[in-house]
Amino acid sequence: MSEFATTLIAWQKVNGRHDLPWQNTTDPYAIWVSEIMLQQTQVAAVIGYYAKFMHRFPTIVSLAQATQEEVLQHWSGLGYYSRARNLHHAAQRIMDEHHGAFPQDFESMQALPGIGRTTAAAIASFAFHQIQTILDGNVKRVLSRHFLVEGWPSSPSVEKVLWSLAETLLPQQNMVAYTQGLMDLGATLCTRSKPKCDTCPLQASCAAFQKQRVHELPTPKPRKAIPEKHTTMLILLDGDEVMLEKRPPTGIWGGLWSFPEAENTTYPDLALTRFGVTTHAGPPLAQLSHAFTHFKLHIEPRTFYVMQRKSSVAELGQIWLNIDDAIVAAIPTPVRKILQSLQKKLASI
Ligand code: ADE
Ligand code: SF4
Repeated sequence: MSEFATTLIAWQKVNGRHDLPWQNTTDPYAIWVSEIMLQQTQVAAVIGYYAKFMHRFPTIVSLAQATQEEVLQHWSGLGYYSRARNLHHAAQRIMDEHHGAFPQDFESMQALPGIGRTTAAAIASFAFHQIQTILDGNVKRVLSRHFLVEGWPSSPSVEKVLWSLAETLLPQQNMVAYTQGLMDLGATLCTRSKPKCDTCPLQASCAAFQKQRVHELPTPKPRKAIPEKHTTMLILLDGDEVMLEKRPPTGIWGGLWSFPEAENTTYPDLALTRFGVTTHAGPPLAQLSHAFTHFKLHIEPRTFYVMQRKSSVAELGQIWLNIDDAIVAAIPTPVRKILQSLQKKLASI
């Protein structure tokens, strides 16, 4: 037997949970109902519902014969109501297909609506002492930490590795204590935040603990690729002055002063017509990128020397500032970076 299993079983017998309402029974129906309720709901919230549900529907027959209305009524408040509808349908299927007896065959269990591999494994081990492994979110966390399995545990490839790993750890006996031990360790010690490694029976063999990487595992779900946007900023130069525009109050950089931008990044000069100025190209500046939470903005700065500024009075929402003053104005970071590189560039010409 794996050392992991030996240690876990010994720990569960002394320190695990032993008095939950669905423990100390081998009635597959009682275990099944609890496992369905516990799929998306915390133990504390389930306990009251479980007692009332089992009181009203003590057997598969009683559940199968009830109306969906009444089943849903007893589920009301637990949420994820497809669980109740599946439970009800599965009870009726058990009546039709298994003579009213909960199937002992692992595959047959999983053919019933609402019973996936991990729920089937919990029922198989608790009710029938079969050697099957569970692999819910808690177990994925325990295994990914203890065996330092990198990658998001619910990605198909990592999940496959975890199922195989979980299978190799299975003991040949004590399946009730082992399965409950997996659940109890994940729920009470190897928790998502602030795991209690100091009192964990698996600490000596835990790879994440030894490498001080507990907080890094399990690997979080990868964030969606961040979209990339492109813009051309028009830097109008008149002597040591640059033109800034006040951005609209909402959206990125709302209310800050920034360079005008060209929608058509291929022909940015076209945008200059809206300022009624004659220009020729100024010194080239390097591109820069700015990361926002939801996208990455690539900025191409284009400088233009203004030949005939219409007047020294700027239009509403526009301002001409000398570069020193512009740098300390209410401007976004990339605009400040552009101004700084422009300052350097001009000093070197
Ligand atoms: N979560 C899922 N199944 C459970 C069980 N049998 N005991 C405690 N928590 C659980
Ligand atoms: Fe989890 Fe910490 Fe125990 Fe490792 S030592 S299994 S990280 S509680």
